[in-house]
Amino acid sequence: MLKKTLFPTLVVASAASLGQAQAADLTISCGAVGAELQLCQQGVEAWEEKTGHSVDVVSTPNSSTERLSLYQQILSANSTDIDIMQIDVVWPGLLANHLLDLREVLGEDAGEGHFSAIIENNTIDDRLVAMPWFTDAGVLYYRADLLEEYGHEPPETWEELTEIAREIQDAEREAGNERMHGLVFQGRAYEGLTCNALEWVASHGGGTLVDGDGEITIDNPQAAAALDLAASWVGEIAPEGVLNYTEEEARGVFQGGNAVFMRNWPYAWALAQSEDSDVRGKVGVTQLPHSGEGSSAATLGGWNLAVSRYSENAELAAELVAFLAGEEEQKRRAIEGAYNPTLESLYQDDEVLEAVPFFGELYDTFVNAVARPSAPTGDAYGRVSNAFFSAVHDVLSGNRSGEQAVSDLDRELARLKRRNW
Ligand code: GLC
Repeated sequence: MLKKTLFPTLVVASAASLGQAQAADLTISCGAVGAELQLCQQGVEAWEEKTGHSVDVVSTPNSSTERLSLYQQILSANSTDIDIMQIDVVWPGLLANHLLDLREVLGEDAGEGHFSAIIENNTIDDRLVAMPWFTDAGVLYYRADLLEEYGHEPPETWEELTEIAREIQDAEREAGNERMHGLVFQGRAYEGLTCNALEWVASHGGGTLVDGDGEITIDNPQAAAALDLAASWVGEIAPEGVLNYTEEEARGVFQGGNAVFMRNWPYAWALAQSEDSDVRGKVGVTQLPHSGEGSSAATLGGWNLAVSRYSENAELAAELVAFLAGEEEQKRRAIEGAYNPTLESLYQDDEVLEAVPFFGELYDTFVNAVARPSAPTGDAYGRVSNAFFSAVHDVLSGNRSGEQAVSDLDRELARLKRRNW
């Protein structure tokens, strides 16, 4: 049954609700990158079976930026349509006023066992506004078969990556695969580009755009050099189309066997290893490269489950959240979908480590991932990120130099700061 909604972009995806005449007890919005929606639906169905309640699952747009504006519309209309939302790790400060304090329903120890940094991130003015569901960090995927064939180790610096990517791309094209590319990443002007660019900048020793005290740090030569290097990839080792790639477009090219390297999140592992993948058994995962004075940096990502303050069934909604963010579900999602648990103990679980070996190998990358400046910029974060990804997109498109972009950004962020943080 298609749920009637003020927001026609939402599509009801619950098989369980098909044919039911009466409204479901709850509606959750989750998905939709890769197998996310399907995994969410399965979790919801397990809870429905256990409790006898009915839940509608509504999918969301793939892009975090589009999701945010959709949720902002829904919440600022005080809509009761959605009880539970999947919220990005950078949103708690932006949305806190519209979200329930989960401790009120789930008790003071609701966050126990989860990485404390995420609980802290999700606690705004002493209110736990979202439960950690999965964490994320940028990683480098590589074609282990091709690297071996051409006699290379996975690259440690961006310069090495650039050289290896070019060599293998050119050789493979000559050998007949015209569609081969050296590198794919997320280059569209959206939140994903903020994540990629933060990695380039931080791993050049160029800082994090705004530091922990709210000082703007982006106008520096290392940051400019990082952006110029990334711009040099476009149309050379990366397809022109990368300027419009999100996670899924990048994965499509890599999984189709047409890229040597890919920057993506861990979820792509489960799909790259799936039976219908062209690169099954040929993929390695390692930390992202660095340059100059920098050391490898992975942007901290991840998603949390929050209950809307306008929910008419908030207590029940919080119970579903506790189930979905609980150990059994996090383990299943880690094994089936390579979603990083937020429960620390699961990183010692043999079945999890067997399914996703790099959860163990890259544990330090996950716990030391670099946060976007959402905490210091508070509810201005959306505008800060927009300014950043727009400027970076301009550099990637060849319209501005790195130096110009970081200097423009410095002024733009200073204006935002005067008004907002
Ligand atoms: C991933 C991350 C999320 C980030 C998004 C950007 O989903 O988990 O934190 O904002 O990618 O595309």
